[in-house]
Amino acid sequence: DWKMKDYANEFIESVRKQVGDGHVIGAVSGGVDSTVAAVLMNRAIGDRFHAVLVDNGCLRLNESTKVLKRLREDCGINLNCVNAEDLFLGKLAGVTEPETKRKIIGGTFIDIFQEEANKIIASSGACDFLLQGTLYPDVIESISYKGPSATIKTHHNVGGLPASMKLKLIEPLRELFKDEVRELGVALGIDEASVWRHPFPGPGLAIRILGEVAPDRVKILQEADDILIQELWKANVYRDIAQAFAVLLPVKSVGVMGDGRTYENVCSIRCVTTTDFMTAEFYRMPYELMESISNRIINEVRGINRVCYDISSKPPATVEWE
Ligand code: XMP
Repeated sequence: DWKMKDYANEFIESVRKQVGDGHVIGAVSGGVDSTVAAVLMNRAIGDRFHAVLVDNGCLRLNESTKVLKRLREDCGINLNCVNAEDLFLGKLAGVTEPETKRKIIGGTFIDIFQEEANKIIASSGACDFLLQGTLYPDVIESISYKGPSATIKTHHNVGGLPASMKLKLIEPLRELFKDEVRELGVALGIDEASVWRHPFPGPGLAIRILGEVAPDRVKILQEADDILIQELWKANVYRDIAQAFAVLLPVKSVGVMGDGRTYENVCSIRCVTTTDFMTAEFYRMPYELMESISNRIINEVRGINRVCYDISSKPPATVEWE
C-alpha cells in the first residue's frame, strides 16, 4: 500500500528532524493504535524511543507477557514492563463504584508513568517528547462523554497526562481513522492478530468485574475472556465483531455438576457491532457458537456455572457494563 508507506516515511523523516538526538517516552497497551505508533517511532529513532507497558493486574490472560514478546522480541522496540499488579489491586480492594475504579486506575497509571519518565531523564539526560496514539476521532470528541445532565463515563485511557510533565506531544495517527491505522499497520508488516484487535478499555477487566475487583475474580474473568476470544477466532467471526468480552456478575446461581450441587458465579458475554461506538448493536451470534462458548466456559473455568448472552443495544445500554 503505497499511500500508507509514504505516510510512514514522511512521519519518520519529520520526527527525526523534530526530535534530533532527544528521547521520547510513550505508553503502550498492545492495542493497534499504540502498537502502530510505537513501531513508527522505533523505525524513526530506535532505542531513543522508550515504550512503557504498565501491568495494572486487570489485563487479559498473560497479556503483558504476550505484548512484551510481540513488541520487544518481534518488533525490536525498547520496551519496559512495569509489573504493578499488586499496587493497583491493593488500591482497588473494597471499591465497587465504577467511576471510582476509573479514577484509581487512571491516577495510579499517571504516577507510575511519571516515575518512568524520571528514570529515563536520569539515565539519558533528557526526555522531552511524549508519543501518543491519538486518532482523528479522539481529536474531535472529548475523552469523557456527557448526557444532557450528567457525565456518563469518564474514559481514562493511556492519554490524559498531567500538564506538569511538560512533554511535547507527538501524535502520528492524529489524521487517521481506525481503519486507516489498520491499513498502516499492515503496510508496516505488523502481525494480523495485532492489527485486528478489538479495543480494550484503559481500566481493563476492573470495569467488567461488577462490584469488587478481587484477585480471584480477575483470574476467573481472564479465563472466560480468553476462551471467548479463542472461539471467535476459531469460528472466523472475530473480525465481524467490533468488541467482544466477558463480564463477571456479582451474582451466584445454583447448578448441577455430576451428582453434586454447585453454587457459582454468572458470566455474561457481550459482543457488539458498531462503526463509532457511540451507538452499537448486539452481534447476532449463531446458536452453535453460543453453545460452544458456553460449554467451554462452564466446563473449563472453575467458578462459573452459568453463561448469559447480552442482547442490549446502545443506547440505552452502554457497551461496557460499568
Ligand atoms: P461505553 O461503555 O461507553 O463504551 O459504551 C464505548 C467504548 O469505550 C470504551 N470504554 C473505555 N475506554 N477507558 C477507555 O479507554 C474507559 O474508562 C472506558 N470506558 C469505556 C469501551 O470499551 C468501548 O470500546
